[in-house]
Amino acid sequence: MIDPNPLNNGKGIKILKQHKVKVKVGFLEDELRRINQAFIKYITTRMPFVTVKIAESLDGRIATRTGDSKWITSDKSRGLAHRMRQEFDAIMVGVNTVLRDNPRLDTWFSKKHPVKVIVDSQLSTSQAANIFSRKAKVILATLSARPGQETENRKILAQKAQILEVKERAGQVNLKDMMRKLAQMEITNILVEGGGTLIGSLFDEGLVDKIIFFISPKIIGGKEAVSSVMGRGISRIDKAIKIRDIKIKQLGEDFLIEGYIR
Ligand SMILES: NC(=O)c1ccc[n+]([C@@H]2O[C@H](COP(=O)([O-])OP(=O)(O)OC[C@H]3O[C@@H](n4cnc5c(N)ncnc54)[C@H](OP(=O)(O)O)[C@@H]3O)[C@@H](O)[C@H]2O)c1
Repeated sequence: MIDPNPLNNGKGIKILKQHKVKVKVGFLEDELRRINQAFIKYITTRMPFVTVKIAESLDGRIATRTGDSKWITSDKSRGLAHRMRQEFDAIMVGVNTVLRDNPRLDTWFSKKHPVKVIVDSQLSTSQAANIFSRKAKVILATLSARPGQETENRKILAQKAQILEVKERAGQVNLKDMMRKLAQMEITNILVEGGGTLIGSLFDEGLVDKIIFFISPKIIGGKEAVSSVMGRGISRIDKAIKIRDIKIKQLGEDFLIEGYIR
């Protein structure tokens, strides 16, 4: 396929042809687009490619009504989910997940350490949080402090993480602005690991490109239990977000469903 980057567009093909290499363009183009999906989105829209990964029960819950979420899926599913992290530039979660689960968000067996991005409007992340425990860089996406409101906590967190100030939307982080700024930092391939509130807002804003759902054949129930996609949601079934090019795999008792939004 022709490189969608306007700086290189077609140049490589020309050079190959000049050197008498036979070139066939458009051959296996769908597969090539999938392999290069993050780069293509970034180079054509200047926005990152966003994959949402979640572990849920059959009834769509990602924690119980008390917030317990360890563990919904099997060791096998969690091992695979963990290995996936090394394919991304950044792992992103909402601040409630950090406050509730205190995850490390590390990659154990890889040399690559994706950046950890926490979406945290009020900078409520604890200075002692486990996300600060390893080598990987941490970015706290937050609102600008008003003059004179530079808290002690903000100053200490700024020594442990990069504070990325983004625009506000309804008192919270403006997710589009955050994604645009992350792309400017060449963070082009992001894995969002929860929770349901952040994922819901990302769907509401049309910012999700791909989903990876690990589904365990368990029922959690409870209207107060967090579900995988919260936010505003849609008002009519014919407006539902459709998933394309679905792949389904069985992993022990769990099911893995992958697919694309557009
Ligand atoms: N099973 C799984 O795969 C899995 C994965 C992750 C989490 N969990 C569970 O999910 C629960 C936490 O999920 P949650 O839904 O309560 O919270 P969450 O999605 O982790 O975090 C939500 C918070 O992010 C901040 N935020 C900032 N800007 C936002 C925006 N534009 N849209 C949405 N959120 C924004 C908000 O706090 P501020 O306004 O203070 O910034 C918001 O309350 C925990 O019980 C955890 O155990 C399960």
